[in-house]
Amino acid sequence: MRRGRAWTAQTFGEPADVLEIDEASWGDPAPGTILVEVEACGVGLPDLFMTRGVYPIVTAPPVNPGQEVSGRVISVPEGSGFAVGDRVMGLTIYGDGWWRGGLADYAFVQEKKCLHVPDNMSAEAAAGFTICFRTAHAALVERVPVISGSTVLVLGGAGSSGAAAIQLAKARGATVIAIAGSDEKLSFCREQGADFALSYRTPAWQDKVIEITKGAGVDVIFDPVGGEAAANAVKAIGRNGRIALIGFASGSWLDLNTQDMVLRNYSAIGVFSGGFSSDEEAVAYTELAKLGASGAVRTPLGKVFEFEDAMSAIESLNAPSAGKTVVRVKS
Ligand SMILES: NC(=O)c1ccc[n+]([C@@H]2O[C@H](COP(=O)([O-])OP(=O)(O)OC[C@H]3O[C@@H](n4cnc5c(N)ncnc54)[C@H](OP(=O)(O)O)[C@@H]3O)[C@@H](O)[C@H]2O)c1
Repeated sequence: MRRGRAWTAQTFGEPADVLEIDEASWGDPAPGTILVEVEACGVGLPDLFMTRGVYPIVTAPPVNPGQEVSGRVISVPEGSGFAVGDRVMGLTIYGDGWWRGGLADYAFVQEKKCLHVPDNMSAEAAAGFTICFRTAHAALVERVPVISGSTVLVLGGAGSSGAAAIQLAKARGATVIAIAGSDEKLSFCREQGADFALSYRTPAWQDKVIEITKGAGVDVIFDPVGGEAAANAVKAIGRNGRIALIGFASGSWLDLNTQDMVLRNYSAIGVFSGGFSSDEEAVAYTELAKLGASGAVRTPLGKVFEFEDAMSAIESLNAPSAGKTVVRVKS
């Protein structure tokens, strides 16, 4: 049995009101999981939602947030594909609630959603790698495959899944047009490799997209945002274009107009990175390991917080800055 610190909310509420550092304990890992001594933890909107009590799969407190971690394996069940001492990055079992998340000294990690950390990757970058690239891969490789020479419009380009999508689309030989809200975020999109970066705050920005594509429109839209920005992006989709529906960071999903879809010959495809079979997951994780190790893609690291400030990290997700937010657990 290991004992250590864990950010915990004993009741649902705003992070500042309910989250505190508690003591917790971890036993042996169940089959399919490994126990990791956490170096860093990546956080995202689900952490904010589960603390508030509005995340569907965490139905009762206490809550221990933290979706993904990097760290060293300290215990494995019999027959595990990992060994004690391995440096890994992957998804926790945060959805199960108490002492399950990664904002803690130890965390259980799902074996099937876990990778070895490449030698040249920092603990902070490793903690933010898995979810954003698994999401981008699910969209741009599995559900809406992007081929070399195509044009991809990425909404929320400075967000974690958007920035990963920019990099993956570039790695697959696409031209990328990224959309974000501020000059700072537009610069961040260019740093991720975007060929063009446009603000959705500029009136009729979609006309510029049509101009960039010489009137043809884009082949693929990666949409983790929804709402008005996505509706405007659809005005610039080309014939046979495809929309990868990822999320609704704006607060509402893209409102699809089926008649328009028919008349202009485009389609929309739902993408859920957690909704693949074990075999499909194994293939995807093998490819992600290669992409990470080769340096073809790199974690779009945003702000890094210290463990003691983890509550501020979660609160910052109300108005996220560019890139993936990470908390350093082991200093
Ligand atoms: N389907 C899946 O498997 C999957 C996986 C991961 C995440 N998601 C979902 O995808 C969404 C985004 O996740 P994320 O981790 O990328 O979030 P994130 O890092 O917080 O980024 C979201 C981005 O959306 C932009 N945004 C917010 N409101 C906007 C608006 N009204 N108009 C235009 N842009 C807006 C923000 O950029 P600006 O500041 O520039 O506005 C921000 O950079 C969430 O709904 C999440 O649940 C789905």
